[in-house]
Amino acid sequence: MSFLPDWAPNLHPLLVHFPIAILFTAVLIDIAGLFLKEQPFWRRAAVLLYVLGGISVFATYLAGEQAADSVFLPSEANALLTEHSDLGQWTFWFYGGYAVLRLIVFLTGLSKRMIVHLPMVFIAAGGLVLLFSTAEHGAELVFRFGVGVQAVDLSVESVGAPTDSLAIALSSPSIAEDSSWSWKPTRATAWRSAMAFVEGESALTSSMMDAGERGDVLGLTVDGEPVLFLVDLPLSDTQVDAAVNLDNFEGIFMFVHNVRDADNFGFMAIGNGQMRQGRSENGDIYVLDTKDFSASGWHTYRVVSDGTHVRAYSGKTLITHGHGEAHEPGSIGIRINGSGTVLLDFLKVQRIR
Ligand code: HEM
Repeated sequence: MSFLPDWAPNLHPLLVHFPIAILFTAVLIDIAGLFLKEQPFWRRAAVLLYVLGGISVFATYLAGEQAADSVFLPSEANALLTEHSDLGQWTFWFYGGYAVLRLIVFLTGLSKRMIVHLPMVFIAAGGLVLLFSTAEHGAELVFRFGVGVQAVDLSVESVGAPTDSLAIALSSPSIAEDSSWSWKPTRATAWRSAMAFVEGESALTSSMMDAGERGDVLGLTVDGEPVLFLVDLPLSDTQVDAAVNLDNFEGIFMFVHNVRDADNFGFMAIGNGQMRQGRSENGDIYVLDTKDFSASGWHTYRVVSDGTHVRAYSGKTLITHGHGEAHEPGSIGIRINGSGTVLLDFLKVQRIR
């Protein structure tokens, strides 16, 4: 049985009000205690509220981490969620640590001294700027971008295939001013001159294939030798959307991002019944998250690489979410290592910062 009302996306929006209300009240009561020194009630009440505030900020932080993995985001909201998440983490460390410090100062009787009490109040009041900024970013997620709001349709298909007619005619990626690009292959080989092959150019054959309701899509056929191709445009923080079918392919298919060369890149890999997210550093593979995943049939995928976070979705569902050092800028592309044919309908790359 779930205690969550069915309209609520997750627990986070129900909890956020507690740290905000408790910590603002704690600071007000603490300031009152500075003026009413002879009445210990105010100091005691403030300490109790800081402890409750620390506990509620911890619960809100945990619920926020869970919320971030349960919601599907419009492209423009990715960077904002990362900022909100980082601010939330600092807020948790700040008020969590402060609550412990305040309790120690109170229990040792030091808080009766004005020279100790006054700076403590200033520190708590300063932290409200951090709390306010965290809450303001969270509210923007909801009220500007509709994150977690059921009435807003964020369907993947609605952000799907590119429509630029010139690029469609040439079958090559269409590149925007900010270096975002989108690619809807329409011819078997014309697109190849627009791509940079990092590995296995001669090992790849390509043809247009009938994919029923989707119309004609690009078939990429390989036979054991790895192939890596990309649009040679360095980007830092990006969102990749694509529609792919791996039914006639055995091996590992990857969306690669922040590619500097054949040995240094980030990846989201699909194969062997799993989705894996990680990075290759000088040829050494580091896996940051792995989930069981069945790739049968057509799937729309989204891979968001934003600073220290990389989130990968199938449709609207988050599958992997790994954390690591922010990547250096690099290009976006596809790596195929296996045998058979990968079907690709479209690939769309958006710069998110
Ligand atoms: C600990 C301090 C935090 C505070 C005070 C806070 C505050 C807020 C606020 C005020 C909202 C708007 C809610 C509404 O208007 O109904 C919000 C939304 C949101 N926050 Fe946080 N937040 C915190 C931490 C986090 C963290 C660490 C994450 C994720 C990693 C996160 C993820 C989200 C998400 C995804 C939403 C959109 C609504 C939802 O699906 O829950 N928050 N937050």
